[in-house]
Amino acid sequence: MCGIIGYVGPRPAVQIIMDGLRRMEYRGYDSAGVAVVSQGQLVVSKKAGKLTNLAAELGAHPLPDSHQGVGHTRWATHGGPTDVNAHPHCSADGRVAVVHNGIIENFTVLRRDLEADGVVFQSQTDSETVAHLLGRALASGLDLMTAMRQVCQLLEGAFTLVAVDAQAPGRIVAARRDSPLVVGVGQGENFLASDVASFIEHTRDAIELGQDQVVEITPDQVRVLTFDGREAPTKPYRIDWDLSAAEKAGYDWFMRKEIYEQPQAAADTLLGRIDPDGRLRLDEMRIDRARLRSVDKIVIVACGTAYHAGLIAKYAIEHWTRIPCEVEIASEFRYRDPIVNPSTLVVTISQSGETADTLMAIRHAREQHAPVVAICNTNGATIPRESDAVIYTHAGPEIGVASTKGFTTQIIACYLLGLYLAQERGLKFGDEVAELVRQLAEVPDQMRRVLAGLDQVAELARGQADTRSVLFIGRHVGYPVALEGALKLKEISYLHAEGFAAGELKHGPIALVEPGLPIFAVVPPQGRDSLHDKVISNVQEVRARGAWTIVLAEEGDLEAGRWADCLIELPVVPTLFQPLVAIIPLQFFACELAASKGYDVDQPRNLAKSVTVE
Ligand code: AGP
Repeated sequence: MCGIIGYVGPRPAVQIIMDGLRRMEYRGYDSAGVAVVSQGQLVVSKKAGKLTNLAAELGAHPLPDSHQGVGHTRWATHGGPTDVNAHPHCSADGRVAVVHNGIIENFTVLRRDLEADGVVFQSQTDSETVAHLLGRALASGLDLMTAMRQVCQLLEGAFTLVAVDAQAPGRIVAARRDSPLVVGVGQGENFLASDVASFIEHTRDAIELGQDQVVEITPDQVRVLTFDGREAPTKPYRIDWDLSAAEKAGYDWFMRKEIYEQPQAAADTLLGRIDPDGRLRLDEMRIDRARLRSVDKIVIVACGTAYHAGLIAKYAIEHWTRIPCEVEIASEFRYRDPIVNPSTLVVTISQSGETADTLMAIRHAREQHAPVVAICNTNGATIPRESDAVIYTHAGPEIGVASTKGFTTQIIACYLLGLYLAQERGLKFGDEVAELVRQLAEVPDQMRRVLAGLDQVAELARGQADTRSVLFIGRHVGYPVALEGALKLKEISYLHAEGFAAGELKHGPIALVEPGLPIFAVVPPQGRDSLHDKVISNVQEVRARGAWTIVLAEEGDLEAGRWADCLIELPVVPTLFQPLVAIIPLQFFACELAASKGYDVDQPRNLAKSVTVE
C-alpha cells in the first residue's frame, strides 16, 4: 500500500510533500519520489530505498521552488524496488507525472498497445502505463481533469491516481477506485492524500471521495466529478484523530487494522491472476511447464505462521494435483538431510522475505538443484530474489509483529499455485480452475461478514483476562487453524495456548482438560463425510469433562450449537476455504485479550517482525 500526498498552495511544495511522506513511513515502503511543476516545467526526483535516500538526492540536486507537487512512497508490487520503478512516472513528452496506489489489472494489454504505438517504457511498473495514457490524452487537447476521466475508464483493477500537468499550473487532479484517497481542505491551500496522517498537521478539514470519482484541487477550490463527467456531491468531515491514530486509520493497533484489511488484501492478491480466456496467469512463475510437469514431490518450507499456511496449503495442493506434498519447519529442514532433487518443487512461504531459517532452506534446496518458488509479501526481498519464481501476495505492509493478513494471503497464494500446477499438468480443465478461482473471489465478502460480527469475540476476550491456558482443536484444514489460533494467543497475550488435531485428544492431551478450561473447536462444514461429526464428538468429550467450549461452525449448524458454550458462526464456504474465515475470530480474540491485559499488541515482548538470524 503506497503513500501518496499532493499539495497546491502558497507554501514550498517540496517541504510539505517530504514532511507528509515522512508521516506515512510507518506504512512500510521501498522507494520514494517527488514531482513538482515550476515555470511550466515538470521536475522529478526519485530514489529506491528510504526517504533519507531521496532527501540526500534532493540535497545534491534540489528541485526548483514550486507551490504544486505530488509525492509517493512505494510498496513494490509490479517491478522491484529500484530508482526507475519508483514513482512518480512521467509521460514520454515529460508533460505529466502521476503517482499510483493499487494494481492496474489490465496493464499488460494497455502497455502492449502503447508499445505498438511506439511508446518506450522506462520501468516494469503497471503505473507507468497510466502516465503514457494521460500524456496521450493531454496531447490530444484534453485538460487534465478530462484526460484523467477518460483514462480511468480504460483501467481495470484498484487504483488511486494523483497527477500534475506542467501546462496546468496551480492544479492537481486525482482519481480513485477501491483504493484510499482523501482531500485535505486548508486555508488557501489544499491537499490530496492516501492517508490523513500526511496532512493532519496542516488541516483537520477533509473531504471523503466516493468510488469512481475524479477530483481537481487548486489552492481555493475542490471539484469532484464521476468518471463519466457528472458533478458529484462532496462529503466534508472533520478529522478528530490524533496523529498516532491517523497512522492506524483510527484503529488503536496496527494488528487490529490489519485484521480488518484482510478482505482487501485477499482481493488484491487475487487481482490480475485470471486471463480474459479464464486461464490462471502467474506472471512471476518463471518455471516452464515441462519442468512443472516433471515435479513428483512438493516440499513447503516456512516458519511460524507461514508454516501454518503451508500446512493448510498441503490439503488443497494434494487434493488438486495429486502430487505428494510435505510441509517442513525451515529450521529443521536442512538438518534432516532431506530427500530433494531436480524433480522436487520447493515452495517457501515468507511475509518478510528475509527470514534466515527459510533463506537457508532455499539455499540448501538449490544446492540439490530443486526448483524453488517463493510465496512472499515483500517485493524484491532476499527470498524471492534467491528463488526461481515468486508469487507475491498483495497484502501491503504488515506492521504488527503478529501476522494476520500475511497469513490469509499466503493461503490464497498457495491455492493459486496449486490450481496453476493442476492447470499446467492437465489435471484440471480451465473451467474447473476458473470456477475454483471464482469461489475464491467470493472469500473477501465472506471475510467481511465475519469481521462485521466480532463484537461477540471482543466480549469473549474481555471475559478471559484471568485465563491461564487455552486449547484449540480442529481436523483436516481446521487443525492448522487450531495451531495458528494458539500461536496468535501465545505471541501477544503471553498465555499458554496449544493447538491439537482433535483426533489426538484421546492420545494424551485430553488429560489437560479440567472444568472451566477454554477450548476453541473449529468444526468442519456439515456434509463433509464423517469429519464434521467426529469433531462434534470431540467437543462433547471435552465438554463432558468440564471444558468451556467455544465452537466455530458454519451458520445453521444446529448440532454444533448444541455443544457450544459460546458459538461463533461462520459463513458457509467450501471446506478448503474455511481457514480463510475461521482464523479471523481467533486472530481477533488474541488481539482483544492482549489489549485488555494492557500489552503492546503490535510489538510483543521478545519478538521481531522479521527473524533475520538463525
Ligand atoms: C507470526 O505471527 C510470527 N510473527 C512469526 O511466526 C512469523 O510468521 C515467522 O517468523 C515467519 O516470518 P516470515 O513470514 O516473514 O518469514
